[in-house]
Amino acid sequence: MPTITVDGRSVDVEHGSKLVLAIEALGIDIGHRCGGKARCTTCRVDVVAGEPETFTRAEYRKLREAGLLDEARLSCQLLVEHDMTVKVLKTLQSEGWADTGPAVAPELTPEPQRFGRDALEAETPLG
Ligand code: FES
Repeated sequence: MPTITVDGRSVDVEHGSKLVLAIEALGIDIGHRCGGKARCTTCRVDVVAGEPETFTRAEYRKLREAGLLDEARLSCQLLVEHDMTVKVLKTLQSEGWADTGPAVAPELTPEPQRFGRDALEAETPLG
C-alpha cells in the first residue's frame, strides 16, 4: 500500500485512493469547495515528493486557468499510486470557511483519462 505524508504525519492508503480523501483521513481539513470536480482549486497541494507525471484534462485546464501550473496540483484529481509527500495549501482553518465543502466522491470526476503535460500543452499551446 502506498504511503502519503503530510506535515510529518503518514498514513498507508489503498492503491488508487483519491489524494484529497487520503489527506482527510489524516484528520486535515483540506478544502474541496466544488466537491472534487476540478473547479475551485481549494484542494490544491504542493507535492514535495512523488508528484504524478500525468494530469486529468480537467486538472490541467483548471491549473492553467488559475495560473497554478508548476505551483500546485489538485488533490481531487490525483490518485495515490505510489508514496507521496505533500503540503496542504488551503484548509478550513487557514481560510476561515464554515466547512470544507461538499463530499468528494471516491472516483475521479469529471473524466478519468490522464495525460502527460506535453500532450495537453500540444492541445492548447501556452501563449
Ligand atoms: S478543484 Fe475543487 S475540490 Fe479539487
